[in-house]
Amino acid sequence: MSRTESASEPQAVNSRGRLTVPKLLALAEDGQKIVCLTAYSAPMARLLDPLVDIILVGDSLGMVLYGYDSTLAVTLPMMIEHGKAVVRSSSRAMVVVDLPFGSYQQSPAQAFASAAEVMAATGCTAVKLEGGVEMAETIEFLVARGIPVMAHIGMTPQSVNQLGGYGARGKLQAERDRIQGDLHAVKVSGAFAVVIENVMEEVVVEAIAKVEILTIGIGASAACDGQVLVTEDICGFASPFKPRFVKPYGDLGAEVTRAAGEFAREVRAGVFPDADHVTRGVMKK
Ligand code: KIV
Repeated sequence: MSRTESASEPQAVNSRGRLTVPKLLALAEDGQKIVCLTAYSAPMARLLDPLVDIILVGDSLGMVLYGYDSTLAVTLPMMIEHGKAVVRSSSRAMVVVDLPFGSYQQSPAQAFASAAEVMAATGCTAVKLEGGVEMAETIEFLVARGIPVMAHIGMTPQSVNQLGGYGARGKLQAERDRIQGDLHAVKVSGAFAVVIENVMEEVVVEAIAKVEILTIGIGASAACDGQVLVTEDICGFASPFKPRFVKPYGDLGAEVTRAAGEFAREVRAGVFPDADHVTRGVMKK
């Protein structure tokens, strides 16, 4: 999506409800950068809701929350439970839930069943799925049946075994052609937005200049319409997997270590609980 200006104010959302797909597209069309962060839990959703346009319940939760070394073990029931917690605990941001590996790749019908289950159970606004040209038919099938789809191209974590790792895409001509083709395919098939992950910046800039679609970058380019990162990563929350493109804005890991260490020290010293932190009151018969 092209733009002539950029706004610094956070999005103006109709107070009657959540940010919808048409409103999101209008904000981007107005030149406002779209802000997206991940959340998997009620407390994180509550904290992010006033700050961002989109909360993504990403399947990155498999690595960030559950400690798997890829997203492949994440299941539909996991995404649904985390999606429910996030929707329940937010009221203004658009909530997008990832379709996990194996829940949509088999056929458009399988993708529809999974997406419909996620949307009905969680109340989210849209689903995200990975893939470009090979997912075009599926995206078209879902969109034609009322399901807003956010696509995800470039470095697609669910294909880690095929890609051979999480490294940057777009260094080779074949990858550049692929990214351009994928971007065009997800646009034509009706995705309302696309995440472009870990792609060489000049490749992103060239590709998005040719295709009119809302682009959300992660390790891509400032030229994208918006940006997404994993919240635990930007908060410095004890992640063993740190992509190069993550900018830390906090050090929550150090804060947890400090607070838990202080608690442990006080318990061991018999200082906690003090009189203010025990249960007292009038005893009844
Ligand atoms: O799963 C996820 O959190 C994602 C973002 C990193 C884009 O797909």
